[in-house]
Amino acid sequence: LLSISDLSPAEFTKLVLNASSHKNAVKAAFATGEQPPKPLHGSLAGKTVAMMFSKRSTRTRVSTEAAVQLMAGHPMFLGKDDIQLGVNESLYDTSVVISSMTSCMVARVNAHKEVTDLAQHSSVPVINALSSDYHPLQTIADFQTIHENFPGRTPSDASLGLEGLKVAWVGDSNNVLFDLAIACVKMGVDISVASPQGYGIPEAMRQIILAASEGVARPGKLAETQVPEEAIQNADILVTDTWVSMGQEEESQKRLKAFAGYQITNELAKRGGAKPDWKFMHCLPRHPEEVHDEVFYSDRSLVFPEAENRLWAAVAALEAFVVNKGKIL
Ligand code: CP
Ligand code: NVA
Repeated sequence: LLSISDLSPAEFTKLVLNASSHKNAVKAAFATGEQPPKPLHGSLAGKTVAMMFSKRSTRTRVSTEAAVQLMAGHPMFLGKDDIQLGVNESLYDTSVVISSMTSCMVARVNAHKEVTDLAQHSSVPVINALSSDYHPLQTIADFQTIHENFPGRTPSDASLGLEGLKVAWVGDSNNVLFDLAIACVKMGVDISVASPQGYGIPEAMRQIILAASEGVARPGKLAETQVPEEAIQNADILVTDTWVSMGQEEESQKRLKAFAGYQITNELAKRGGAKPDWKFMHCLPRHPEEVHDEVFYSDRSLVFPEAENRLWAAVAALEAFVVNKGKIL
């Protein structure tokens, strides 16, 4: 699982619904002091999941370790100073060796090519835990969160029933946006992106996002602007992410200047004409410059359930790619 573009609409829908049903079943079991229900419990018994992280992480690390543990497997965390990932050894050698001893590699890398190279040479499934281009586990959790918070929409085989919703992304065009936009197109959710000049979606990525509409009966529309108010018009959900992703720290001053005026506030949402009951989402970690506390800590904010859903997204992905060997049942 390298990107949401690897998944058909039906596969993505199933992963999100599986994440949601595992959440309900496990929480109900834990509430009564029972073991997690089968088939989840024990499904990774005797299996090791290598977690190769070249960058910091709170949610992805904790959710993956907790998911593997919940399924009775062994999560092996390998930070950038622990192994030779891309340093002192080729990715080819690393991939062949680690996949010969484990059942899955979950990798957080710098350039996206690092995770595609790992996958190419691996004998076990590889799950992208964030690369320069994509963050598929985040997107599964995000759509689980949307599914849970916009009830009354009936999923079908190839859709979550969210057609017609509008997401407004206000901020940097980055890895989290790219997979989110691909999923929006596949799920019939319109997405409008507002980024400052020079920080929009690169042309090659725009083509990948637009290609997600192939074979989709009612694809979501992608719109792009430099004006936050235009993106926000009629939006159901406002989303953003940090203006300075990991690895861009040296550009901090330049970026903070370029993004001035893009902070999500109640006033901006009102001026832009968001729907009256608009919601707010953010993958976290959050910095105050991209969203004001009045939004981040408000009733509109879905950020903490969204973060919790990372656990259930990890469970659903491990089940599909490791337990069921790529069959999304
Ligand atoms: N959202 C997310 O991936 O957070 P971490 O960087 O803390 O894993
Ligand atoms: N865009 C951020 C996401 C972190 C989860 C980054 O790449 O640092």
